[in-house]
Formats: sequence, C-alpha cells, structure tokens
Amino acid sequence: MFRIGPYEFGRGAVLAPMAGITNPPFRQLCTELGALYCVTELISCHAVMYFEAKARNRGRKRGQKTLSLMEQYVGEHPHVVQLYGREPEMMADAAKVVAREGADIIDLNFGCPARKVIKNGMGCGVALMRTPDLLGEITRRVVEAVDVPVTAKTRLGYGQDEKNGVKVAKILAQAGAQLITIHARTREQGHSGPVDLAYLKQIVDAVDVPVIGNGGIHSVKDADDMLRQSGCAGVAVGQGAKGNPWIFSELAGVGTRPNLAERVATCRRHLDLYVAWGGEQRAVTEMRKHACWYLKGFDGAAAFRKRLGEATSRDAFLLLLDEVPMESNADEDATGC
Ligand SMILES: Cc1cc2nc3c(=O)[nH]c(=O)nc-3n(C[C@H](O)[C@H](O)[C@H](O)COP(=O)(O)O)c2cc1C
Repeated sequence: MFRIGPYEFGRGAVLAPMAGITNPPFRQLCTELGALYCVTELISCHAVMYFEAKARNRGRKRGQKTLSLMEQYVGEHPHVVQLYGREPEMMADAAKVVAREGADIIDLNFGCPARKVIKNGMGCGVALMRTPDLLGEITRRVVEAVDVPVTAKTRLGYGQDEKNGVKVAKILAQAGAQLITIHARTREQGHSGPVDLAYLKQIVDAVDVPVIGNGGIHSVKDADDMLRQSGCAGVAVGQGAKGNPWIFSELAGVGTRPNLAERVATCRRHLDLYVAWGGEQRAVTEMRKHACWYLKGFDGAAAFRKRLGEATSRDAFLLLLDEVPMESNADEDATGC
C-alpha cells in the first residue's frame, strides 16, 4: 500500500511510461485490467510552452488540449502526466499548464536515455543525474508551482561506475517529490539487462517517500522478488505489458494468463478504443505492432503477423482477427514480447 497525495494504492502494479505505447487507449485497457495508475508518454516542457503560446495567439477553443500527448481517456483518474526538460523556470511554467489542463499528478523524467533527450544540447532525462543539484532545483520549482502532487522517475545511475541513485533520490525527496520510481538499471543498460535489486534496496532505505521499483517484471515471481529483495512500496511494469495487459490483473491477484480467444478479444477491444481516440487510419496502422505482441504462440502465428500489414481498415483488421485459429494448440504463455 502506498500514497501519492490524496491517492491511495493497494496491491498491483503501475504501468510505466513508454513513448509511442502508453497513449490513452493503452492506458484505458491497462486500467480496465487492473493497473493501479498509468503514466503518459514523456512530454517536453518546450513542446508544452510552444503549443500553449500557439493556442493563446490563435484563441484557444473551449476544452481544447494544449498538446495531444496530454490527452486523457474519459474518466482517467488519476491522470499522471510525465514532463521532461532542464530549465527550472520553463519546467515550472509547463507544469502549471499541465496541471491546468487536468493532470492530477505530474511525474518528472530523470531517466530517459534516448539520444534526442540527453544529447543535442538538451541534457535532459537521465543526463540530469550528472547534475543532481539542477535536478533538485527543477523538482523544487515544479513542486512550488503546482498544487498537484509531483513524483519523479529516475535510474540507479548514469553508468555502472556512476551509481548515484541514492544521492539523487535523497535530493528528489528533499525537493518535495512525493514518490520516486526507480528503473533499477543504469543509463548504460538502456531498457534491458539485469536489474540491481541490492542497490534498489539502498535507495528504498535512504528515503522516506514511497519508492516504486521498475525493470524486468514479466511475471508475479519477478514482482515478488523485487518487492521482497528491495522493500519497495510497489512495482511498475513497462515492456512486460506489451501484448500482455493482463499482467496487471495477475499482479493484483485477480486474474490469470488469458487463452488465445481472450487475447484476440482484447486485441479487438484495443482496436476499438484506438479508433475512437485516434481515428481509423491511425488506429489500424499503430495497432499492427500491438497485434503482433498479442498474437504469438499459435500454429502459423508468424505468417499471420506478416499479413497484418495488409489490413488497411478496421473491418479488414477484424476479419483478419477472425482467422486466428481458436482451436489451435496455442502456447498460453506466449504473451508479452
Ligand atoms: C519503447 C519505450 C519507451 C519508453 N518511454 C519512456 C518514457 O517516455 N518515460 C520514461 O520515464 N520511461 C520510458 N521508458 C522506460 C520504461 O518506463 C521502463 O522504465 C523501462 O522499460 C524498464 O521497465 P521494463 O523492464 O518493465 O520495461 C520507455 C521504455 C521503452 C521500452
């Protein structure tokens, strides 16, 4: 059990933010299947302020969102929006806009290793672990600027020889972050490789705000290991939810691995949520990757996945899903990626 401001969370897991994946339809699906809360894709404070200025110049339409990445599905609550940037003042201004637009919680990204985020003069995301004082200043300014709770997500350190996650977590907590998510890998490791639960434990022990552990969770056992070995307050699942949103029911103790028919049914639901949110063309194009993740482990699955590229409308996509051989000797454990 852990809290973020007025929000209390019990057994289960959080959907970790993933650019290009954790958009409103996927967040809705994961919430329906038991995710405690979900985090948007990361959003640049520059983008927020650019679109804010544009909307102001053109005269904002009533209810119009500043940025589509900030959109929420109807009823999403808490709506957790992730921001990144390195200028404290601009981050504070962007946080105010994001809070005004309906964010219930603002999560600060100090963990992204993507080149366009850490390089090109940006020095954002995980690069800020190398300037902990600036990272603390950003957090403090954002906390002061908004009334909603502020959380942060970071890593163990920049590299194997630069593990300063304990120091960074202390600075974050002191600056007012109400919860810290730790991706238990270094920047060097990217998004794969072993997690260091011993160092995660040191971070958990060093701060008195809840720490959510993240990294490499694909099963109840993985989550239990992380919880037990680190003492973290909860866990967040990223790649383990791709094609496998049921992992949240399993981790909440209310569901089991689905059979192939249930996987196909969820893929249909996901498609419909996508069409309603992004329109048919976008939904069909972007659902191909999700369908590949959902539909594994049955006879002819590889050939089937190749054919997904041919589906250019919702109806064609659904017809193709009708062809999945439900009586197939499907590997029930072939979810995920
Ligand atoms: C495609 C992809 C996009 C990601 N985008 C973000 C992001 O926008 N913000 C963030 O904090 N982390 C992002 N991450 C990192 C994940 O939130 C998570 O920390 C990481 O994948 C480790 O967890 P996992 O092993 O459960 O996947 C991303 C990871 C992936 C694979």
